[in-house]
Amino acid sequence: MPKPKVYCTHPLFDEARNILNTNCDIQYWTESERPPREELLRRVKDREGLICLLTEKINEELLRSAPKLRIVSNVAVGFDNIDVEACTKRGVVATNTPGVLDETTADFAWTLLLAVARRLGEGEALARSGNWKGWNLDQLCGADIWGKTLGIVGFGRIGRAVARRASGFQMKVIYTDSVRASEDIEKPLNAEFRDMNSLLADSDFVSLHVPLLPDTRALFDAAKFFRMKPTAFLINTSRGPVVDEAALVAALENKKIAGAALDVYENEPFIHPGLKRSNVVLSPHLASASLETRSKMATMAANNMVALFKGQRPPNMLNPDIFKKN
Ligand code: DGY
Repeated sequence: MPKPKVYCTHPLFDEARNILNTNCDIQYWTESERPPREELLRRVKDREGLICLLTEKINEELLRSAPKLRIVSNVAVGFDNIDVEACTKRGVVATNTPGVLDETTADFAWTLLLAVARRLGEGEALARSGNWKGWNLDQLCGADIWGKTLGIVGFGRIGRAVARRASGFQMKVIYTDSVRASEDIEKPLNAEFRDMNSLLADSDFVSLHVPLLPDTRALFDAAKFFRMKPTAFLINTSRGPVVDEAALVAALENKKIAGAALDVYENEPFIHPGLKRSNVVLSPHLASASLETRSKMATMAANNMVALFKGQRPPNMLNPDIFKKN
């Protein structure tokens, strides 16, 4: 039997590559830059499978260019880069990589929270500058973290993993979501359900953990910043467009909030110049970027792909209805 023809937009990691090389007739994009759109459209023409990163837009145009495509396997949990409806219409299975990155992403949300509260970026710059004149009583004083209130927006797996880490800091945890979690989830985390306005009014740190959906696009707008404490910090490791960046810049300029720590941006890799200020910590979409976790994500994406070609149902399908229809 000929192996299924697959295109992969990244060389991935050893374990994933072994799985794919064994089971597929595979080509990889190996340049360090992401593949230009035209190149990608050209490369998928005769392919039955595509493994892609969140930087590739999988839309009607791409699906048209790949008439033999049966599966798109995203190496990410977020799938706002994929038009799942268009995939379903064409009978193309779409998959993602949930679960394996929760703890690593939660670690990073905390990394950002700690960094912005304790002014780590400014301190590091001073320590490296050669201009540090020594200890001083009021030097780079930040905000305490311990004992404060952490507000979590989006209480799924990652939001809960962030909550779990708060007890070591003796923090009060409040959360909001479209659906309240059950008591057996809330209780061990000591987490209290609030509506959005009450969460914004009481939180010292607001950490975002919602997927990008039509309802969550620009969820954090001027009105939300207006309701936050002027001493509060915003942390975003979810998706950039969940925050209206112009409104965030205005809130920072007008001291409506104390600062922000951001891993994701509205138009990546562009970063709004107004965010490049001392009370904002910026990182380039790194929250899941531990070697262990990125490798697990790649392996999961490879297994999703191979399952379909072995006649099985891929474990992490975004459009399971495809199988219901057939
Ligand atoms: C995801 O998986 O959606 C992250 O943004 C990258 O790990």
